[in-house]
Amino acid sequence: DNRGLKDFYRSYFPIGVAVAPRNLAGDEAQLIKKQFNSITAENAMKMGPIQPREGQFYWKDADSIVNFAVRNGIKIRGHNLCWHEQTPNWMFIGKDGKQVTKEVLLQRLKDHITTVVNRYKGKIYAWDVVNETIDDDPSKYFRDSKWYQICGQDFIMKAFEYAHSADPDAKLYYNDYNTERPEKRERIYKLLKNLKDKGVPIDGVGLQAHWSLQEPTETELRAAIERYSSMGLKIQFTEVDMSIYPWEKNSRNRKPGEADEFTPELAQKQAAQYAMVFKIFREYKNVITNVTFWNISDRHTWLDEYPVMGRKNYPLLFDTHLQPKKAYWEVINFK
Ligand code: XIL
Repeated sequence: DNRGLKDFYRSYFPIGVAVAPRNLAGDEAQLIKKQFNSITAENAMKMGPIQPREGQFYWKDADSIVNFAVRNGIKIRGHNLCWHEQTPNWMFIGKDGKQVTKEVLLQRLKDHITTVVNRYKGKIYAWDVVNETIDDDPSKYFRDSKWYQICGQDFIMKAFEYAHSADPDAKLYYNDYNTERPEKRERIYKLLKNLKDKGVPIDGVGLQAHWSLQEPTETELRAAIERYSSMGLKIQFTEVDMSIYPWEKNSRNRKPGEADEFTPELAQKQAAQYAMVFKIFREYKNVITNVTFWNISDRHTWLDEYPVMGRKNYPLLFDTHLQPKKAYWEVINFK
């Protein structure tokens, strides 16, 4: 059987994967071509990697991903244009060594976004314009990042405007995690509603979907999709994985000597959780415009290193030998 995820989901939405340039050769490249029809750069298009020094752009890695996608007829999601992490230090420091003013920072943001969006104009069909600005703490609203300290919330609106002027055809997304937790969901909703009401060019919301066997529940997932789409936004699940450890304790709570084993019981639970979320995705195919996995297989996932030290995780549909797992068969098991 030559069919992959992308073929089973042809009439629903593109199925994507996050990659680094090293994944674009050998067996991983074969798997990408068979299974996926959308691609995201895991790190190569972020601000630090792509503009390490002011005005000096490093295109090699991002270009290699874009060229691979174009050659193979794969759509490209851009990730991301503004984030509190992986921002180079120079961005916030002026020629005098002091912190820059809001005016200078917005000009730098504009230059960055204009240059990057322009380079891949017509090739990148959707951009994560702003990533993770809402705090996890329900008693706070915005995250207290350097961007926020210097610009207040204006950088968010401005980033969308700059991206839209650089490529009016690209779909523009706000992207965040834990977006199904009711309190965070409502704060994200409020931010996005505000942007819409002001006429800011935003097409949709990216729900990262770094999930676990416990989260989200079916009720939370449905509520989130309905809430965000109720204001006319499209939804993309931009960074799907299903950690076998609860989110808050991924590796911190590892007991000495505890095995990092992917037991049949865990495989079963994970398959059930994947089956549940994909059933809901299919029901909402009219508002969901992309579902992307964060990494290719359990051979390597960012969760092996995150949040603290290495604890092997098994969050994806393919195992360390790139073979489909139980969860894979569940995801394609529908009529
Ligand atoms: C992660 C990458 O996977 C890692 O390689 C890197 O060290 C840190 O960033 N939310 C996001 C992604 O929006 O950009 C992050 O990617 C994972 C969490």
